[in-house]
Amino acid sequence: MEEKGFLVEWDKKYIWHPFTQMKDYLASDPLIIERAEGFYLIDIEGNRYIDGVSSLWVLVHGHGKKELIETIKEQADKLCHSTLLGIANVPSILLSKKLIEIAPEGLKKVFYSDNGSTSVEVALKMAYQFWQQNNEKRRKRFIKFSNAYHGDTIGSVSVGGIDLFHKIYKPLLFKTYKAPSPYCYRCPMKLKKDTCGLACVDAFERTVKKYKDEVCAVIIEPVVQGAAGMIVQPDGFLGAIWKITKENGLLFIADEVATGFGRTGYMFACEKEGVKPDFLCLSKSITGGYLPLAATLTTEEIFNGFLGRFEEYRTFFHGHTYTGNPLACAVALKNLELYKKDKIIERLQEKIQLLENELKRFYELPSVGEIRQQGFMVGIELVQNKKTKRPYSPKEKIGQKVIYEARKMGVVIRPLGDVIVLMPPLAIDDDLLKELLDVTYKSIEKVTV
Ligand SMILES: Cc1ncc(COP(=O)(O)O)c(C=O)c1O
Repeated sequence: MEEKGFLVEWDKKYIWHPFTQMKDYLASDPLIIERAEGFYLIDIEGNRYIDGVSSLWVLVHGHGKKELIETIKEQADKLCHSTLLGIANVPSILLSKKLIEIAPEGLKKVFYSDNGSTSVEVALKMAYQFWQQNNEKRRKRFIKFSNAYHGDTIGSVSVGGIDLFHKIYKPLLFKTYKAPSPYCYRCPMKLKKDTCGLACVDAFERTVKKYKDEVCAVIIEPVVQGAAGMIVQPDGFLGAIWKITKENGLLFIADEVATGFGRTGYMFACEKEGVKPDFLCLSKSITGGYLPLAATLTTEEIFNGFLGRFEEYRTFFHGHTYTGNPLACAVALKNLELYKKDKIIERLQEKIQLLENELKRFYELPSVGEIRQQGFMVGIELVQNKKTKRPYSPKEKIGQKVIYEARKMGVVIRPLGDVIVLMPPLAIDDDLLKELLDVTYKSIEKVTV
């Protein structure tokens, strides 16, 4: 629409987009979203697109959900913001009770922040400080996994393991110990999934045994390493990692920023293998995709480790300006009520099956190396040579090309390198889900066959 041309101009003139090569972006015809309805995003020209990655993994009930919008309006009439530093507000209290009710056993306290990265920072700092002020000063390190992604702040980058994003910052990062990721398609230990006997768990155990006296905690994305390309952990991996961590007296941080709130088919991925973490990091779908909010849940034991006389300074000196924002907490609470009312997790199970069945035919495409699915998290890894698993050259920008094709056919998705990601909103209906898959199939076919 001509009268909106200034938006394109101003976007290119003023905005620096995240995770985006701006040279390419400036030469492109940008997609500018103006509205949304249900599971569709609508651009400034009125074109409709299925929201195939839930607006970066957050959307649950769809856009424009009346109950959620009403909740924000009602809360806005009462209170938009008041600090949580030393005083309380109503929605943050109600939400914290609800989170503790649904979280894995043993988690008793909620510390709020505003995004996934900060929820991780909070867990890292709490774990470190806990040991520092509880007579274990030598514990200063963390154990992480290769291919891990925990956010973009320097602390969360320190426990990350994706070279493409993290390597350049190495001189700025704190020291960690790394265990191999269970990326079975390209096993870092060069083993085969059926016969390896989870050798990566043994490697993890060796790392734990070697360094346990200097380690605060182990941090992991339970069940799926999302940003690395939806790397799904083999059955038994998570439970074994947790068991080894606890047997060796270390704290366990479960980063469920991506996997939390049903994405894996479980309310929390930890449930899959009965894991009871010492910290649970939450964000993304916590508000159903309506406002930014994050929470770090922890145990009574950790909380008690910070209690003391004022002048002892055992306080957790951390807190963001918008910590516990009432609007975000109110909509998060309503979001969780809707999970129950609309039976989101129960109804998801059939849709997961549908997704699995529909994905099988993608293997017919010569470029599809592996399809990884856990619940509603899907990664389709495209390769130049299926037999040798040789990847495409980055110059070819295959992932990018596929999503541009999909866009032409009315679908918004986003790749992770040459892994095509699908992360549909949990409440999406079957027909739309099929359409999303259809378009994705055709887009891969068009670009790679
Ligand atoms: C597992 C995990 N942790 C942390 C983050 C960071 O969240 P945010 O982008 O909200 O800072 C992400 C984001 O994708 C994530 O997938």
